[in-house]
Amino acid sequence: MNRPGTERETVMVVGAGTMGTGIAQLLLENGFRVILVDNKSLAREKSLETIRKRLERKVEKKELKPEEVTTILTGIQTAAHLEEGADAVMVIEAIVESLSEKKKLFAALDRIFPGETVLATNTSALSISEIAAATRQPERIIGLHFFNPAPVMKLVELVSTQKTSEETVARTKKLAEQLGKTPVLVRESPGFIVNRLLIPMINEAVTLLSEGVASREDIDTAMKLGAAHPLGPLALADLIGLDVCLMILETLEKDLNDDRYRPCQLLKDMVNQGKLGRKTGEGFYRYLEKP
Ligand code: 3HC
Repeated sequence: MNRPGTERETVMVVGAGTMGTGIAQLLLENGFRVILVDNKSLAREKSLETIRKRLERKVEKKELKPEEVTTILTGIQTAAHLEEGADAVMVIEAIVESLSEKKKLFAALDRIFPGETVLATNTSALSISEIAAATRQPERIIGLHFFNPAPVMKLVELVSTQKTSEETVARTKKLAEQLGKTPVLVRESPGFIVNRLLIPMINEAVTLLSEGVASREDIDTAMKLGAAHPLGPLALADLIGLDVCLMILETLEKDLNDDRYRPCQLLKDMVNQGKLGRKTGEGFYRYLEKP
């Protein structure tokens, strides 16, 4: 654990999108130094701004003192190149959900980082074994799957491949616990635990909507009040991103070779129209302010 007065450990986060930003905030709040890498300068700036605003909101709510925000923010450094984080004890990848992009990135990380650095991917559904196959040391590759919003959600899935070493699992579990998360151990399988259960439910909710069985509000109210979900499935799809939901369904359908995971046509149409949920200002609902 990083204690005051001791040198802070560094974790590198690659990808400054929604998940990368949330993970970086979580690490900072728990005393880690963070190198946040993204090749797009706008993404880096936006991410820093989001973290700053979220910490300031905590000051308003009296959860942090103003001087604590200043100290926390000194812990983050942004960078355009992976080499700048070479002293990190762990790398957490949260880039776009593209297998080819992730394989390219992990091949580079494997070249740059010494053998003892754990290389974790936050992928929602892609094959971690295939990502690991792009490296020379697949034993140090693991899935570390956070949930949106990462600073708030208590769970992480630790996903090991057949080649992930016990040491890699133990070190990643320790980090998860230092971040105040509850880890669950998963043997690699499409969608892991949560997305295998959650995303087909969202698909079914979109199907109900497209069949005119009920309004979007009533579908969401039904699951909030009838199944005690904090958000209804359509509002949750907007939070996750409709493109991400679609990608996960396509992966489940292909990898499990089962058409019960086939994405609903309405979901595909909305993604084609660029209605991706909160991040574009419109999904099943409209949002005044983009996060
Ligand atoms: N980042 C950081 N903190 C956030 C946040 C964010 N994006 N959104 C909300 N919070 C925190 C803030 O402290 C906020 O308080 P504030 O507005 O006063 O600052 C507090 O949560 C409460 O937020 P809200 O009042 O906006 O709304 P809720 O009470 O509904 O709580 C929620 C928000 C925690 C997101 C809650 O709705 C919830 O638990 N929803 C379910 C989320 C979920 O299921 N996530 C998993 C998605 S699946 C996934 O990520 C896997 C992937 O692979 C697809």
